[in-house]
Amino acid sequence: MEQPTRDISPEKTADDQLDNVIRPQRLAQFTGQDKLKANLSILIEAAKQRKEPLDHILFHGPPGLGKTTLAHIVANEMKVNIRITAGPAIERAGDLAAILTNLRAGDILFIDEVHRLGRAVEEILYPAMEDFVLDIIVGKGPGAKNVRLKLPRFTVIGATTRLALLTAPLRARFGAHYRMDFYDIEAMRSIVVRGAGVLKMPIDAAGANEVALRARGTPRVALRLLRRVRDYAQVRANGEINHDVAVAALDLLEIDQLGLDDLDRRVLLAIIEKFGGGPVGLETIGASISEQPDTIMDVVEPYLLQLGFLERRPRGRVATPHAYRHLGFQVDEEAADDAAAQLNLI
Ligand SMILES: Nc1ncnc2c1ncn2[C@@H]1O[C@H](COP(=O)(O)OP(=O)(O)O)[C@@H](O)[C@H]1O
Ligand SMILES: [Mg+2]
Repeated sequence: MEQPTRDISPEKTADDQLDNVIRPQRLAQFTGQDKLKANLSILIEAAKQRKEPLDHILFHGPPGLGKTTLAHIVANEMKVNIRITAGPAIERAGDLAAILTNLRAGDILFIDEVHRLGRAVEEILYPAMEDFVLDIIVGKGPGAKNVRLKLPRFTVIGATTRLALLTAPLRARFGAHYRMDFYDIEAMRSIVVRGAGVLKMPIDAAGANEVALRARGTPRVALRLLRRVRDYAQVRANGEINHDVAVAALDLLEIDQLGLDDLDRRVLLAIIEKFGGGPVGLETIGASISEQPDTIMDVVEPYLLQLGFLERRPRGRVATPHAYRHLGFQVDEEAADDAAAQLNLI
């Protein structure tokens, strides 16, 4: 019997549907992440040559960089089925057992947010991933028996934004680990151009460049900004996206030159103005601006760290002189140099 694939997103918006149209289907259409792509294509090629299922794969990195997309691409390249689920969607061990017994040889099981699997569910997953067996208990009380079912050889692809929250035994069962990084500007430009092409939006090189610059190295953000810029172009201009239209639209959205939005600025301002520049814990920052610490950790912090606006210290987060300057604060340049020199010594 066909097990319905669990849908992890509660509602599909028009934007989500566009996402599915834009999603690259093959590795060759996937822009950027060149090292990762090279390694992944070797993994795929080698498995194909040996006519074996793929080893289990783990993708980790900030949201919107292409983990889900890559899972689908791997399935397409291997010409196998993919079942999609997520850590929080598998509540009981029995849920996972039902999914596993419905898999066919070679199938891919994609588990998003794999760090959020429950303990009991994980225990079922270990032998399934390692030995392709499912241990279940049949019956109740003294007559209960342990039964071991054989499973077809399948591949788990896990995705996580929080590698540190993955338990060591689970992490060890993934044979291939790939870390996703923010995209460089060149890759971002071609993602914007390709996205505009798929959505049939007229855009010139300078317009695409402006969207790419402000998209914080994240394809999902680039595609979202692109759609908002298109709205602006349609309503306030002649429908074409050029440099001036992109700048006007993004300024109106309060996305600054480095791609910082209102939430990023609120986080930095809280650290600087309420906590004397830090160190301060994420929980405290979150409480002071009424935001979830998880959102700050997943969405805000990685990019601010990458920009060098934030530092992680044992006692909390610290805003750097770069952050002060960007937000228009006066910085005592000598003190800043001293602080920077000290940091390099550590
Ligand atoms: N390398 C890429 N090239 C083109 N589009 C991409 C790329 N990576 C991601 N995208 C697009 O960005 C969006 C977010 O990607 P997704 O795979 O859902 O990210 P994640 O699962 O890491 O949060 C999707 O619409 C996807 O099509
Ligand atoms: Mg995803």
